[in-house]
Amino acid sequence: MADLSRIGVAIDAELLAQFDRLIGERGYGSRSEAFRDMVRDALINQAAAADETPVVGTITLVYDHHQRMLSDRLTSAQHEFHHAMLSTLHVHLDHDNCLEVVVVKGPAGEVRHVADHLIAMKGVTHGRLTLTSARPASSGRAPRRPGRRGARP
Ligand code: NI
Repeated sequence: MADLSRIGVAIDAELLAQFDRLIGERGYGSRSEAFRDMVRDALINQAAAADETPVVGTITLVYDHHQRMLSDRLTSAQHEFHHAMLSTLHVHLDHDNCLEVVVVKGPAGEVRHVADHLIAMKGVTHGRLTLTSARPASSGRAPRRPGRRGARP
């Protein structure tokens, strides 16, 4: 694990109260853990802004499979970009709608291009690209202190 540094943060009391509510709702055991996750998320987002950054991600698509030829066009597009496609999960949501999750990997610019292409297809009612990294900035976790109760280190 990476060396840990301790920092002090000056923060408005009301903002801190909102932060505590947020991380409580999300189930964080400590402010430090929530803070580390938020920093990693910001760093991944910043890195993924550059087209050449290697990323992994998921493209989530909801579409009406009655839409003419859409299933075939989605499959064709995935074959066209096969080098970036790792896996696809398909769920029949109801009589009309399908959910497809495509796991993608490659340079961020190319992954965004593939996602834009799929999401823009006529008949796709909602689509979203989520990018992440196999190697976040640091996955270091604070050691658990024996006897520590609750949150707030
Ligand atoms: Ni389906």
